[in-house]
Amino acid sequence: MKILGISGSPRNEKQSGVYKLVQTVLENTGYDYAHVSLKGKIIAGCIACQGCVKDNVCKVNDDMTELREKIVEADAYVIGAPNYYSTVNALTHAFMERWFQFRHQEGDLLWGKLGVAVGVGGTEGKAPANEIEKYFLYSFIETVANVSGQGAASCYTCGHGETCKVGIPMMLHDEGFKITEDMIPDVRKQPEVIDAAVNAGKLLGERLRVGHDRAKVTEKMQNKMMVMFETGV
Ligand SMILES: Cc1cc2nc3c(=O)[nH]c(=O)nc-3n(C[C@H](O)[C@H](O)[C@H](O)COP(=O)(O)O)c2cc1C
Repeated sequence: MKILGISGSPRNEKQSGVYKLVQTVLENTGYDYAHVSLKGKIIAGCIACQGCVKDNVCKVNDDMTELREKIVEADAYVIGAPNYYSTVNALTHAFMERWFQFRHQEGDLLWGKLGVAVGVGGTEGKAPANEIEKYFLYSFIETVANVSGQGAASCYTCGHGETCKVGIPMMLHDEGFKITEDMIPDVRKQPEVIDAAVNAGKLLGERLRVGHDRAKVTEKMQNKMMVMFETGV
């Protein structure tokens, strides 16, 4: 069993709340894992060229090429993204969009696998986590846990955070506030979020240990998708 973790933040490991949460989930599954950061990777969105129709292999030559094999080989995924404009950031979006290559001719390479969705935002991280959950569903991957937390918006360190009227600090603190180190949101300082990531890892590990039945999970997700199409929820 192998789990693939993907951190979609362009920030480095130490700065990124997404990286920290994805790593925490991975460390608690009890299985081997690979943790790949998308930082610095060049991944274009799908260009609808249909080059992948015959063999389910994307022909766009960029950093997604080396990731394809890791995606296929993994039994489960922990994917995290930062909240940019109330959704997943473009880098993670492009990465997930390229999973289109697996879909043709009822390509079942990913069907019935398991996933954990992770999101971090300057105010909230639920929006990107929910988006990732939706991407999982399109591949009939079951989301066993959805973890989100609050990270450090760049406005805390841009130099104008105490006065900028459109910055996140102004939204979160009372008038006349002064930025101090301890007020900068960090998932490491949110015990309930770290606990949720630990529990998500344990749950994913348990689900894999009981010998999860990919065919059953696939059927369950196909039914869920039909409900989503019919009801819009
Ligand atoms: C371009 C951009 C747009 C953002 N938009 C939002 C937003 O709409 N809502 C929000 O809560 N945070 C927003 N943020 C803040 C990030 O979500 C926050 O910094 C988060 O900690 C990023 O995750 P990371 O620490 O893993 O990089 C935005 C940040 C950037 C750079």
